[in-house]
Formats: sequence, structure tokens, C-alpha cells
Amino acid sequence: MDPAAMEELVKVMENMQFTMGHIEGVSLPGFTCDKWDTIYNFQAREDDILISTYPKAGTTWMHEIMDLILQEGDIQKSMRAPCYVKVPFIEMVTPKPMPSGVELAEKMASPRIIKTHLPISLLPPSFLEKNVKVVYVARNAKDCMVSYYYFQKMNKGLPDPGTWENYFSTFLSGDVPWGSWFDHVLGWWKAVGKHQILFVFYEDMIKDPMCEIRKVMKFLGKDLSDEVLENIKYHTSFQAMKENPMANYTTLPKAIFDQTISPFMRKGIVGDWKTHFTVAQNIIFDEKYKKTMEGSGLNFRTEL
Ligand code: A3P
Repeated sequence: MDPAAMEELVKVMENMQFTMGHIEGVSLPGFTCDKWDTIYNFQAREDDILISTYPKAGTTWMHEIMDLILQEGDIQKSMRAPCYVKVPFIEMVTPKPMPSGVELAEKMASPRIIKTHLPISLLPPSFLEKNVKVVYVARNAKDCMVSYYYFQKMNKGLPDPGTWENYFSTFLSGDVPWGSWFDHVLGWWKAVGKHQILFVFYEDMIKDPMCEIRKVMKFLGKDLSDEVLENIKYHTSFQAMKENPMANYTTLPKAIFDQTISPFMRKGIVGDWKTHFTVAQNIIFDEKYKKTMEGSGLNFRTEL
């Protein structure tokens, strides 16, 4: 977006009250709800690649890896545009003059990488009908909760999370933007094997990035040398992305993401929940987790 359009957007944002709505019980930004028919009827292409996540699971990290794989490790090509432009966020509707995710995607040449946080029950059906490849990144709920808390503080388009104590209950109840972490992760996990879904864990990406990058490369049907993969690993490290204006969202004005409150590239670690959860919260959380996730076959590493 050119600077004049960005300035116009900032003015609009500064005078705007953001509301949330619900689609089939899932909390979503009001603008998304208003345009729901257009979003739900979005037409995917067979060679699209979807990056699907619950918010704060490592979406940006993964789509930077995916884009660099498609660009065969060429960092200049990968830095062609801010990540929110080169990877359209399909359900995102931002005030004009910023184009919506659907508008950006429709104008984009193939192959497109498209981002969604939608639970699988709300995914525009054409993605699965066209048998689109999906990379799903899951991150343990405790760290997601902490990351989301800071993100809701700095993202002016989302509700203020209130105190940590209140947020803890809200997150567990599932009444946060994009709904329940539990429903999201379980819904997508159950679809593995029925659709072309590569299910990846954030914790594995932290532990052995090369191994996960190689998995994604194979899933995308590419065959890149170890040297290129090392380069991709280097450019998608936390530090490199934190310093990359095309990946760290610093091109968005403070009226949208106020990174003086909390940087988008915040900590990028496993186990930050330990500095936030009280002993009592941890007990409450573990009980809910056990009840909801038992028998699912999903195992997260919450500490490394
Ligand atoms: P924290 O807030 O815990 O630091 P998303 O892109 O889905 O919004 O996820 C953002 C989270 O992923 C943030 O977590 C961010 O720091 C982390 N992240 C982004 N890039 C990363 C990287 N290269 N390595 C590790 N973590 C990364």
C-alpha cells in the first residue's frame, strides 16, 4: 500500500470502534462477519497452499519458510512485499483503502500461499474440494495463550484482553477471537489423513528446524540442496525475522499493531507460560486439558 493510502487507513483506524461478532458460535472480527458470504464462497485454486493455524501458533514463521521454499531460498524474492501482502489472510477484512484477504488473493498469480486461522468447520469449502495442500502448525495451548494475551494488547483490531486473570478464564472458555484452541486443534487434527494436511508442531520447529523445513519441502514437492535449506533456516530464525521489516509487521502503523506495547516477534520460545501461570491456574488448565484432549493422540511438548 502506498504511503498516502496508509495514512488514510491510519486516520480511519484511529476513529474506529472495533467490534466482534460470531459465526456459528465462533468469535470473529465484526468486519469478517459482515463479509462472511464472500469469504465462505472464496474459490481456491488446485495449486494453492494453505497455512492454517490457531492464532499465535507460529503462522508467520511457517509461511516465511513455505515462501522461501517456493522461492528456492532467494531472500530478495521472499522480501518482495510485507508478509501480510504476499500471503493473503483469507478471512481478514480491513477498513478501506486496505484490500481484504479475498481481494488480495483474487489478484494474485499462482501458486498462492494463503493464510487462515479459521477452525476447519468454517473453512471455505473450496479449499478441501480442490484438495489444496494444507500445512497446519499447532503450538501448545499454554504458550499460545500467553502469546495471544500480548497480541490482543497490541493489536488494535482485537478486543483488549483485560487482566491476565480474566484472560486466562476467557481463553479457556473459548470466547476469544477465532474461538477455542481446543476445538481448533482437534478439528484440524481429525482431518489429517482425510485431506492433504501436513501437521507440524511449533515445538518441533524450535527443537529441530532443519528437520521440519525438510518435511515441508517434501510436502510441497520440492527438492532443494542442504545449502539452500540451511539458508532458509538462517533467514527464518527468530533473530533474522525480528530484524526483517517484511516479516516483523513493523510496516504496519501503530494504529494497527502497537509494537511499543508488545513486539510482534516477542520471545519465540517454548515454556514462556511458566512465567505467567500461577500454580492454581496450572491445575485448572491441566484438568480442562486432560478432559478435552484425552484419547486424541495429540502430544505437545510444553517444555524443552
Ligand atoms: P511469542 O509471542 O511467544 O514470542 P503467529 O505468527 O501465529 O502470530 O505467531 C507469533 C508467535 O510466533 C510469536 O510468539 C512469535 O515470536 C513466534 N515466532 C515468529 N517467528 C518465529 C521464529 N522464527 N522462531 C520462533 N518463534 C517465532
